[in-house]
Amino acid sequence: MADPIVEVTRLTKFFKTLKAVDEVSFRLEPGEILGFLGPNGAGKTTIIHMLLGLTTPTSGSIKVFGLDLEKHRSEILQQANFSSTYVSMPYSLTVKESLEVFAWLYDVRRKEEKISELLRIFEMEGIRNKEVRHLSSGLITRLNLAKALINSPKVLFLDEPTASLDPDIADKTRTLLRRIKKERGISIIYTSHNMKEMEEISDRIIFLHKGRIIASGKPADVVQSFRRQNLEEVFLQLARGEKA
Ligand SMILES: Nc1ncnc2c1ncn2[C@@H]1O[C@H](COP(=O)(O)OP(=O)(O)O)[C@@H](O)[C@H]1O
Ligand SMILES: [Mg+2]
Repeated sequence: MADPIVEVTRLTKFFKTLKAVDEVSFRLEPGEILGFLGPNGAGKTTIIHMLLGLTTPTSGSIKVFGLDLEKHRSEILQQANFSSTYVSMPYSLTVKESLEVFAWLYDVRRKEEKISELLRIFEMEGIRNKEVRHLSSGLITRLNLAKALINSPKVLFLDEPTASLDPDIADKTRTLLRRIKKERGISIIYTSHNMKEMEEISDRIIFLHKGRIIASGKPADVVQSFRRQNLEEVFLQLARGEKA
């Protein structure tokens, strides 16, 4: 089997006395979309922040492209990127200008070419000169995803990329993500509260609850192992069962 893109071993994060992430281990295989799901506070964002080196783990190890994240952070991040609904773009810049800023930050070669390509893929050519502050949330998400591809990453970390989108735009975004994966072979870690979306888009899912992995596998296998009809039902069983 090919080497994993990401290999996380017994990753743990305490915020003071709160154990936000509890001995989590998993691998992201090349070309795979791995979905994290779980109720609010399950630890999804904290794990993504640790994968980006934004939060320091309390213990455990993270390897990306076979390299230790702690020792090779900038090298790894050159070939990774992320997007989150909650990341804000510079409001007074136009769509094109904001992509230019990120192209500079990543020292992208042939910037104009790359930006034109992304504007085309995300169907934003007509709004290239529109200021970010005037964009709808659907367009901001598209811009966020375009930004995430600016450095032609090998791995993408997407934290709730479809959270603020209406169903139609969310569907288009999913189609785009599948295309990105298929055409570019990018490996993706993804979080969402939309169970149907998870089922549709993920090759494998990891179900987190209170910082622990409580189920994982192919969506259909997880559903079957819980003898449920779909992930939504599994989610409700796990989330409620824990409280009972
Ligand atoms: N910077 C922080 N300081 C203290 N507690 C935090 C911080 N970030 C997250 N937490 C806590 O860690 C837990 C996991 O949060 P988070 O990773 O955001 O969950 P999720 O993304 O699954 O909703 C929550 O209980 C949250 O309140
Ligand atoms: Mg979160």
